[in-house]
Amino acid sequence: MTELLGDHFFANPHAYYRLWREDGPVVRVHFGDGVPRWLILGYEEGRAALADPRLCKDIDGLEAVIARKYPGRWQGPPTHDGLRHMLNADPPTHTRLRKAVSRAFTPRRIAALRPVIEQTALGLLDGMADHDEVDLLQAFASPLPVAVICHLLDVDIQDHATFREWTKALVGTLEPGVDQARALQEMVAFLRKMLQRKRLDPGEDMLSALVGDDAELDEGELVGMALLLLIAGHETTVNLIGNGTLALLQDRSRLDRLVMDPALIPDAVEELLRFDGPVNMATLRFTAEPITVGDTVIPAGEMVLVGLAAGNRDPRRFSDAHGFDPTAERTAHLGFGHGIHYCVGAPLARLEGAIAFSTLLQRFPDIELAVDESELRWHHNAIIHALKRLPVRLRK
Ligand code: HEM
Repeated sequence: MTELLGDHFFANPHAYYRLWREDGPVVRVHFGDGVPRWLILGYEEGRAALADPRLCKDIDGLEAVIARKYPGRWQGPPTHDGLRHMLNADPPTHTRLRKAVSRAFTPRRIAALRPVIEQTALGLLDGMADHDEVDLLQAFASPLPVAVICHLLDVDIQDHATFREWTKALVGTLEPGVDQARALQEMVAFLRKMLQRKRLDPGEDMLSALVGDDAELDEGELVGMALLLLIAGHETTVNLIGNGTLALLQDRSRLDRLVMDPALIPDAVEELLRFDGPVNMATLRFTAEPITVGDTVIPAGEMVLVGLAAGNRDPRRFSDAHGFDPTAERTAHLGFGHGIHYCVGAPLARLEGAIAFSTLLQRFPDIELAVDESELRWHHNAIIHALKRLPVRLRK
């Protein structure tokens, strides 16, 4: 049986995973585009799949498989400009690109971002203080990561709304009326110009370092790297703050505990990544050879999603998997993925998350939901679990 995923699923995927898990660690799903995917639900099975070289990501290979198997059904972008990046690549290309970014993404560079993150967070909270109610996503969760990633890469984004539109269009959206091809074209044109400027006048930032590393990355790969870092460094962190705040507001005792004991916040970030992290399913992979998951053989040439959120609440791996406990030993969650594509930005994301929650709770310890939880709406998205808005009252 193939499950069609719609509104109810995106609002509460965990309820579906709980149900499907009873039938085994893998289920067949589709999003209405005519291309079914296998969704792995189990923690151990998902972790094994993420480390399995028979599950591939090369973008040309993926499109060739889909074109052969489901001719005419998949509407991918007309060109791969901007999409030749490491999350769309297998070794040895992936290895080369990952080495280049690891050289540039140094612990020193990340540590230097701490004051930038703190100042930005405090400035945004100051801006909120005049209001009784705000949409926390718009006022805080979204602008903070944009400012941080733009600082890291020294990208001057004048128009945050357009930038947000591009990134939203390019990360797994299933919503109708989104012109992905146009968003991609505009973002690539913007990035080409920016890289040209960095070539002529390099700065101290991470992209200048990558541009200077001439022998390693060609022009298309540089554009792809910039695009990937901007998108991956942004949409995920926005929704860590959004989903995380909601999880704290759903049960006051969780939030009060962190207000009383802010030293718990780094562990709470880890638990929030497990409990309801922003990446619901890892990005699309395809089987180069048949693989076996539980009792199911997935043939070659099939599309596979690894359910990170599902694995993170697998009761075979985590005791009280649906509960929230920042003091439990939960660090082995799948929120940042696993294997060769493990999130390269995890240390930065952890730092941003810790600063975001500590500054927010310190400034507004009485924050509460401004609407009934049933009124919250979620994006239809194949990768990210994301609220559309998070209306909050800042004080009693
Ligand atoms: C809470 C925030 C974040 C979460 C939950 C997250 C999660 C993930 C996950 C699950 C993957 C693997 C996807 C897959 O295997 O299909 C990934 C990869 C990646 N992430 Fe993150 N991420 C976050 C923040 C960031 C930040 C801040 C950056 C950069 C500044 C970043 C850059 C990347 C890159 C470049 C990759 C691709 C790595 C590769 O292909 O080798 N991420 N992330």
